[in-house]
Amino acid sequence: AKPSFTLNPTLNFKAVPVTRSDTVTIPAGYKAQVIIPWGTPITGNYPAYAPDASNSGTDQEQQVGAHHDGMHYFPFEDNPNGHGLLVVNHEYVDPNILHTHGPTLVDGQRPADEVRKEIAAHGVSVVELEKEPANGDWKVVNGPYNRRITAGTSMEIRGPARGSDLVKTKYSPNGTEARGTINNCGHGYTPWGTYLTCEENWAGYFVNRTPRPREHSRYGVSTSNSRYRWDTAQGGADEYVRFDASTKESNATKDYRNEPNTQGWIVEIDPFDPSAKPIKRTAMGRFAHEGCWVAPPQPGKPVVFYSGDDAQNEYIYKFVTKARYHKDVRGDILDEGTLYVARFNEDGTGEWLPLDINNRYFHAMSLSKGIFFLDQADVLVNTRLAADVVGATKMDRPEWGAVHPQTYEVYMTLTNNSSRTESGIDAANPRAPNSYGHIIRWQEQGNQPWATKFKWDIFVLAGPEGDSQILPELGGPALTPDNIFASPDGLWIDQNGILWIQTDMSGSQQSSGPFGNNQMLAANPYTGEIKRFFVGAEDCEVTGVVSTPDGKNLFVNIQHPGDRSAPNSFTSNWPDHGNIFAHPGDPVVIANPSGARPRSATVVVTREDGGSVGM
Ligand code: FEO
Ligand code: CA
Ligand code: CA
Ligand code: CA
Repeated sequence: AKPSFTLNPTLNFKAVPVTRSDTVTIPAGYKAQVIIPWGTPITGNYPAYAPDASNSGTDQEQQVGAHHDGMHYFPFEDNPNGHGLLVVNHEYVDPNILHTHGPTLVDGQRPADEVRKEIAAHGVSVVELEKEPANGDWKVVNGPYNRRITAGTSMEIRGPARGSDLVKTKYSPNGTEARGTINNCGHGYTPWGTYLTCEENWAGYFVNRTPRPREHSRYGVSTSNSRYRWDTAQGGADEYVRFDASTKESNATKDYRNEPNTQGWIVEIDPFDPSAKPIKRTAMGRFAHEGCWVAPPQPGKPVVFYSGDDAQNEYIYKFVTKARYHKDVRGDILDEGTLYVARFNEDGTGEWLPLDINNRYFHAMSLSKGIFFLDQADVLVNTRLAADVVGATKMDRPEWGAVHPQTYEVYMTLTNNSSRTESGIDAANPRAPNSYGHIIRWQEQGNQPWATKFKWDIFVLAGPEGDSQILPELGGPALTPDNIFASPDGLWIDQNGILWIQTDMSGSQQSSGPFGNNQMLAANPYTGEIKRFFVGAEDCEVTGVVSTPDGKNLFVNIQHPGDRSAPNSFTSNWPDHGNIFAHPGDPVVIANPSGARPRSATVVVTREDGGSVGM
């Protein structure tokens, strides 16, 4: 049944003030529980979490990963609001926290088990959850659905890039498979009940010390060292040294030059089939995918997904399936369709420009710029370059999107852009530098998600009281102490039409500005009312939000608490210090550097009276 949406949600709670407390602060009348912190055993022989981080790589493969990010809740039909699969991304790791004494480098090499543990702490967790009727607490069910997908899991490549020379590797000489998913930031889900995990800042995990092809250089594959130096693993196992993508041999199936080309995609995972291989859906393009958000599907019409490329001056995309939606379609519908990139015109109109080798405009622009593609696989592996060719609008770091379930209006966060200069501003990216970020929104022509034209405006310019505005085109008000925020990132519209905004402010933005810790705000998309609902623990990012279908259990992720920790000296001890949550006015919790190791985790927020969260 279609849920009923209130177009004008009341935000019936008292705003939470900014705070630097090392806990989760929520409004009076609410409570919170922590579930599945990093290290929670969920599969295999269920190795217990070792508080000194002495768990091995093998242990980590059976435990919840690190740095929780995007997530989705898939309800079971029998008890949808009390029994479901929570699928959670693990974006990256902090080796200072992941290992007992921090990371090791011996004669320029990483110990193989440290590398194994870091690879295993990446990826996705599928966890079965049940709400205990007696006390309302959520608990992990040690059942058959629980699963870890990591940066080492075997996956299939489908869509136009399958079999392309550009994805042929030593691992898969015919270019049909790939190993692992990396830097899974935002997420998506499909109308047929699968999860989409999105590969964001994968480029830095690789190094290429030989001349880089455009597939590497346009995305920033490192020329000096890889992010965690997995390529230097002692013992030289193929599964680790593959992160060195230098050209060393006579062809691409003898070295690892094409390994980076197998990252940067949208990956489809069926949470209800633990034996199903994850599938990289290449028709949806390759870039620093933040997430992937579907417009409500309409029978007989194409299915439409929006996606942002989170890097300075990159683009917003949408994918429109060739086949039409009906209730029996499955993931293969994602293998054929048109990938578009957005141009935001100065007058508040916009266009979707096809990145299609058979499109005449694309062909002409390619000729005029002297940038050529062999086939559609080449276009997709080089999506950024293809978008450069058609003259798309360079945005201030597109992060999450949210499609309004009734109006189909799309909201997207533009988190910030320190590199935008006065001469580079445009109407859609109006500040230089853009230190605080903004949220843009658009409505497709005729309210049809597959349309190629749209109208747009800015929902809010984030920032302090003196440099912010809600609905600037309508002359809206500045932000106030109840709602100042910066660097919007996570975004979601819930069952009641509340627009949830999550922030990813840098350490200095949190410590030196007026904003306090990272936070989550609730907004009414129609009136522009915004209220702070939730403040996260010290040095964390608040990212990932979803609820049970009844809106009464809100799942929120706390990523990288204690982000500035050194080995054995932590800048947060959440949640193991026991101060799980607080209300405004409660004492501020100060982190103890010698105290508990901080852990990313999911918080479940409920109303003490059992009502709908945020209303
Ligand atoms: Fe991983 Fe764009 O945040
Ligand atoms: Ca993000
Ligand atoms: Ca971010
Ligand atoms: Ca992050």
